[in-house]
Amino acid sequence: MKYKKKIINVFKPRFRSNEILNDLQKIFKSGWTGIGNKTVIFEKEWEKYSGLKNSLFLNSATAGLHVAVDVLKLANNWNSKTEIITTPISFVSTSHCILYAGLKPVFCDIDDTGTLDPKKILNLINKNTKAIIFVGLGGSMGNLNKISSICKRKNLKLILDGAHMSGSFDTRKKHVGQESDIAIFSFQAVKNLPTADAGIINFKNTSYYNLAKQLSWCGISKNTFEREFKKNIKLQTWEYDVPYLGYKYNGNSVMALIAKISLKYLDKDNDIRRKISKIYEKKLKKNKKIFIVPHSKGSSRHLFSILVENRKRLINYLKRHNINPGVHYKSILEFSFYKKNKFKSSRDMSVSKKFSNNIVSLPLHTFLELKDINKICKLINGIT
Ligand SMILES: Cc1ncc(COP(=O)(O)O)c(C=O)c1O
Repeated sequence: MKYKKKIINVFKPRFRSNEILNDLQKIFKSGWTGIGNKTVIFEKEWEKYSGLKNSLFLNSATAGLHVAVDVLKLANNWNSKTEIITTPISFVSTSHCILYAGLKPVFCDIDDTGTLDPKKILNLINKNTKAIIFVGLGGSMGNLNKISSICKRKNLKLILDGAHMSGSFDTRKKHVGQESDIAIFSFQAVKNLPTADAGIINFKNTSYYNLAKQLSWCGISKNTFEREFKKNIKLQTWEYDVPYLGYKYNGNSVMALIAKISLKYLDKDNDIRRKISKIYEKKLKKNKKIFIVPHSKGSSRHLFSILVENRKRLINYLKRHNINPGVHYKSILEFSFYKKNKFKSSRDMSVSKKFSNNIVSLPLHTFLELKDINKICKLINGIT
């Protein structure tokens, strides 16, 4: 018999497949798999869970980020000189969305929390600055409160890229996103609330939500679900207008059903992630060769990140022992497209550079066992 080695990956989503398959049967029998029905039910459940308003279930957080910037641009008449400040330590969607909308990303350095440095942001704000996109790296709030105060003081819109933050709570035990004008969460397959691919966007302002609803449905004034289920002859529901050049970004009922089931387990799964992170912290804290990236209390703990001088050596060593860590993230400014286009950034980008070169995400998921964590920590402490 062939011996199968246990591989420990950085992520491993836990899908409640029996529950999902059971409910999927019902959806397919009903014949309605698209926008509406389950997407509307999920939006309501998410609002109840998070306390956030005006939800739109979309096909990804990338779509949500694009819609967020586009809505703000349309509603506030921003022009191509408009600048939006964000972090280079993120997934590329965070800054791509600014460029999709024809606006200018400006990259600010981070501090040791891995999130935007409030002091360095102040130097980048000018008359063209209209918004900040804050990324809650790994689920942590980092400097979000300070950035939120700057936005209020300087009259800037605050967009929260909460791709990692499903189930992140602040010190008042409120779900993150309450202070943001727009908050976006990812339900992509390896995120804390997994589907196959989906995301959600929440708006403080209902008029932005109404605009986003149309923009995410090809710019059409009424979606198919609303037309189908409001069969009142007098309303002429077959009629619709296209007031905007929108996108096909809506989520569907199959993903919404998976999201609804994953949401039921989100707090339980995040508690496991928090426990694992505590064990990592305890076992690694005496190691003077590594820096453990701190998280806010109540973080969803999507990531457990360390900084280490010789990253390549550590990753290769762990891989030889069947452990596959990750890198979240190499700086966006290191990619050829961004290098070529020379975007504005803080004069001193030293902390982002340090993160970009040295960051490692250790395996963090609900299938990890104590012996796996012990093995990972022993290897790290042995080689660094
Ligand atoms: C910080 C961040 N923002 C945005 C995204 C995009 O999310 P999605 O895959 O749902 O489009 C990701 C995905 O990894 C991410 O990590």
